Amino acid sequence: MCGIVGYVGSQSALDVVLAGLRRLEYRGYDSAGVAVLADGQVAAAKKAGKLGNLEKELTEHPLPSAATGLGHTRWATHGGPTDVNAHPHLDNAGRIAVVHNGIIENFAALREELRARGHRLESETDTETVAHLLAEDYSSCGDLAQAMRLVCLRLEGAFTLVAVHADEPDLVVGARRNSPLVVGVGEGESFLASDVTAFIDHTRTAIELGQDQVVELRRDGVAVTGFDGSPADVRTFHVDWDASAAEKSGYASFMLKEIAEQPKAVSDTLLGRIDASGTLSLDEVRIPPQVLRETDKIVIVACGTAYHAGLIAKYAIEHWTRIPCEVELASEFRYRDPILDGRTLVVAISQSGETMDTLMALRHAREQGAHVLAICNTNGSTIPRESDAVLYTHAGPEVAVASTKAFLTQLVACYLVALYLAQNRGTKYGDEIRTVVTELAGVPEALEQVLDTMEPVRELARSLAGHDTVLFLGRHVGHPVALEGALKLKELAYMHAEGFAAGELKHGPIALIEEGLPVVVIVPSPRGRSVLHDKIVSNIQEIRARGARTLVIAEEGDTAVEPYADHVVRVPRVPTLLQPLVATVPLQVFACELATARGNEVDQPRNLAKSVTVE
Ligand code: F6R
Repeated sequence: MCGIVGYVGSQSALDVVLAGLRRLEYRGYDSAGVAVLADGQVAAAKKAGKLGNLEKELTEHPLPSAATGLGHTRWATHGGPTDVNAHPHLDNAGRIAVVHNGIIENFAALREELRARGHRLESETDTETVAHLLAEDYSSCGDLAQAMRLVCLRLEGAFTLVAVHADEPDLVVGARRNSPLVVGVGEGESFLASDVTAFIDHTRTAIELGQDQVVELRRDGVAVTGFDGSPADVRTFHVDWDASAAEKSGYASFMLKEIAEQPKAVSDTLLGRIDASGTLSLDEVRIPPQVLRETDKIVIVACGTAYHAGLIAKYAIEHWTRIPCEVELASEFRYRDPILDGRTLVVAISQSGETMDTLMALRHAREQGAHVLAICNTNGSTIPRESDAVLYTHAGPEVAVASTKAFLTQLVACYLVALYLAQNRGTKYGDEIRTVVTELAGVPEALEQVLDTMEPVRELARSLAGHDTVLFLGRHVGHPVALEGALKLKELAYMHAEGFAAGELKHGPIALIEEGLPVVVIVPSPRGRSVLHDKIVSNIQEIRARGARTLVIAEEGDTAVEPYADHVVRVPRVPTLLQPLVATVPLQVFACELATARGNEVDQPRNLAKSVTVE
């Protein structure tokens, strides 16, 4: 959701904060603001729109130089994206500045109380109430950290808050409940941010802030306490991403860079998880083998693209382990009163590790006694911290809002989990597991081949820029791939796009087919389950007979599709269950190119945010 940066040290706070915000802009980009402490005053600037608008404002109306400051890039929840609603928010005396990520659920009641006590609130945001509450508590205790603790105890909901006070020029105070905040510890300087990419140019030493904690940031170090004032244990960790991993490295967009990084992301995710004898050792999965052997149901919870990874994983898990597997949208999970107990393994998939819907689903699962395994790309984030075990995907930072490399590595992690369970329960022989592991090891090369042959896909995408609708069809694991292709197109090209199970078409959606309608069809390998392949070839004929323009993704050597395909995109031969790894890539390239041809900004599509930390 929103991105937050705080700094205290000896550099220009404004420079550090703006550079950090640039890295965090993917989190939210409908307005931005900064505040610095200079000459005993708070000096602030904020603007609706992209960060560039704020930077222009700062060039026209510079802020005084300062060594303490904070900044915010917003994804609106309460109140539209206007200058007034942008953060930071100040109290009436203009002595306190606050930025916030999350939602304060009891803000309406708090605002009424404040108004009754004579406070003037100018914005429609929940955040502004915090600035006023802090001002009241500060006036009685004269201690910003204590005022923050007192205010946090009155707030309901999810929040990260960062505040400065004009009377405490060398202090930044942060607080966190159910929303991300990491601390960076430098030499004579300290940082706070929604994620480490904001400060990796300055320090690689970071501290995970726990739930319900307040941090005081000073030049010479940090102090962490609970909301009740008790000192907290701090766990530092080393950030091993390098700064260039978070830059575009010459690509026109982060999305293109991240698509290109997929072979490496997949091989990094496999690295170190298979020993020389082909045995899987997932060291992070600290759920006792006995528990895994007794598991009688697997439930995967996730959102969006991660949910599609889960839908594909179901086929592999059930086939290799014979354990029934359900896949559920995390946002729906806890509301249907799911049947869970100590023999249920819940797998929570999340790139960011901060998605609130997924977090709430896993909390519900743990309350019911289920064991939770997280598949996550972000070290130190909340979802792995609150799970019983974690398998990290090693995709590196994913900055573009549309998920690409994280999706492929989530798939790889799911395959590893499925094989690990099969190994543990003896549902597959060692040599069978080794065969799949060898096939997985060949995927990075297959992905390189796909990426090398994408020019015709780009051309095709450009030729479709004027269309309004594209449909996607698949069967078996190709069905979630179709859903993912449609999601990418919706979010990037703002087009009507839908994915269907090809067999379901005749039960209604075939009425949508009209002359020239582009339909992308993901064709399973004829070598795997030939019945699947034959059925989908018939589906292609059905839609073509009704005028559809058929864009077919099929493996090399599959000539059966040629008579019915207007365009064929070839992908390398891989086993049926692994085909989503190679078949998704052309769909990512297709959506990215089509969106660009329509003049859309692919890294930051409208209305979206990278990390959705509200329900
Ligand atoms: C789509 C996309 C989203 C995310 C979803 C879950 O391209 O990126 O649908 O997949 O918001 O996010 P994570 O994986 O961070 O939990």
